[in-house]
Amino acid sequence: MFKEEQIRVIKGLINHLDNGTNVDAGGQVRNPVSSYTDETIAADEWQEFFLGHGQLLGLSGDLPEPGSFLTNNDLGKPILCTRDQAGKFHAFLNVCTHRGTIVESAPRGKKKVFSCPFHAWSFSHEGDLVSVPREEQFGPVDKSCHGLTALPAEEKYGMLFVHPSPDGTLDVDDLLGELAPELANWNLEQFIAQGDTTYTHAMNWKLAIDTFGETYHFNTLHKNSLAESFYGNCQMYDTYQRNHRMALCMRNIDTLRDQPESEWNVLQAALPVYYLFPNIQLILSGAGPTLVRVYPNKTDPNNSLSQINFYLHPMIKDMEKNAENQEMFEQIENRMQGFADVIDKEDYAAAALGHKGAHSGAIEYFTFGRNEPALHHYHNTYRDALGLPPLERISN
Ligand code: FES
Ligand SMILES: [Fe+2]
Repeated sequence: MFKEEQIRVIKGLINHLDNGTNVDAGGQVRNPVSSYTDETIAADEWQEFFLGHGQLLGLSGDLPEPGSFLTNNDLGKPILCTRDQAGKFHAFLNVCTHRGTIVESAPRGKKKVFSCPFHAWSFSHEGDLVSVPREEQFGPVDKSCHGLTALPAEEKYGMLFVHPSPDGTLDVDDLLGELAPELANWNLEQFIAQGDTTYTHAMNWKLAIDTFGETYHFNTLHKNSLAESFYGNCQMYDTYQRNHRMALCMRNIDTLRDQPESEWNVLQAALPVYYLFPNIQLILSGAGPTLVRVYPNKTDPNNSLSQINFYLHPMIKDMEKNAENQEMFEQIENRMQGFADVIDKEDYAAAALGHKGAHSGAIEYFTFGRNEPALHHYHNTYRDALGLPPLERISN
C-alpha cells in the first residue's frame, strides 16, 4: 500500500475511534436467503464465477523454485501447476493423455518429470510428453500432440492465476482493475509458503465470504479472541470495481498517535483484507499474508470448503533457523494458526448456523447494515454478474 494511502487509512480509523463512528454504506439492504440455498443460483455461480472465470490459486511462493509444482482439485477438474527450469509458470489439466489417469497426486513438491502412475508416460514441466515406455511394443506415439492440456496461466504481482477452461480468457490486470498497483506494491512474490489448512462446513460458500465482510461481530463472536487485539465495529472500506479492501482497526493503532506520520506503517495499525472477486480473501499482516480461497462444492449450495494458505516474510522465516529467535518464530506461527482457528471455530461455525437458519423458513431475508458496506458491495456484484436485480434498499 502506498505511503499516502497508508496515512489516509490510519487517519480514517483514528477519526472513527475518536468520534465513535464507522464506515457507512448510507442505508440498509436486504438479501433474500434463497441466495444461499437456491440450486439454480448455485449452478449459475459455478459456471460463471468458477469454471468460467480466472482463479487465483496461490502466491508465487507456492512454486518456490524451478521444478516446483502444486495440484488443485477445487474446481471440479484436476489441475497441475508447474514452474519450469526457466522459472516460467504453467498450468495444465492433470490428466494423462494415454488413458486419462491423474498424473500427479501429491499436493505440492518438486520433480524432474511427472510420470503417470499407470504406465509411466512422462511429462515435462512444460506439459510435453517426453517418454513412452516400450514404444516399440506399444506402437508409435506422436509426442507433439500428446502433451498435457494447457490452461491459461499467468503469474503477475506475485500471484498465480489460472483459468480452469482451456479455451478461457485470462487477463490479470482486468481481474484486478484499479487494485493492481496497490497489490503490486506489496511485493507478494517475496513471501515464503509456510503451510496450509482446509476447512469444510455445511454452508453456502457466500456465507463463508460474508464472515470477512464486517467487524460489527468482533465484540460478540470474537470477544475472547480477536477483540483483544482489534477494535470491533471500526474499519475503513474502499472498492475497486468488483474487488475491495477493508482495513480492520488494531488496538495497536493507539501507539501511532505519538509518532510522526512519516513513520506510520499501516501494518502496525490495521489489518488490510483484500477481497478479489469471486472467492478470495487476501489478508496482509506484518508476518506475511494469509490467503483464503472459498469454493462451493460444485453446484451444491449447502456445502463449501476454504483453503487457507500461510506465507511468511523472508526475515520472519530466517528466525526459524536462528536458535535465539526460535521462540519468537513459534509465537508468530502460533498467532497465524490461531487466527485461522478463529475463522474455523468462530466465524465459520456461526455462518454454518446461519445456513441452517436460511433453510428453516423462519426468515426470507438477511439484513445488511449501514456499517457492513462490503456485504452490500459483493452481493450486488454477484447479483449483477448473474443478471439479478440489486439488493433491495430498506432504509436510509
Ligand atoms: S494412463 Fe497414464 S501412462 Fe497410461
Ligand atoms: Fe470474524
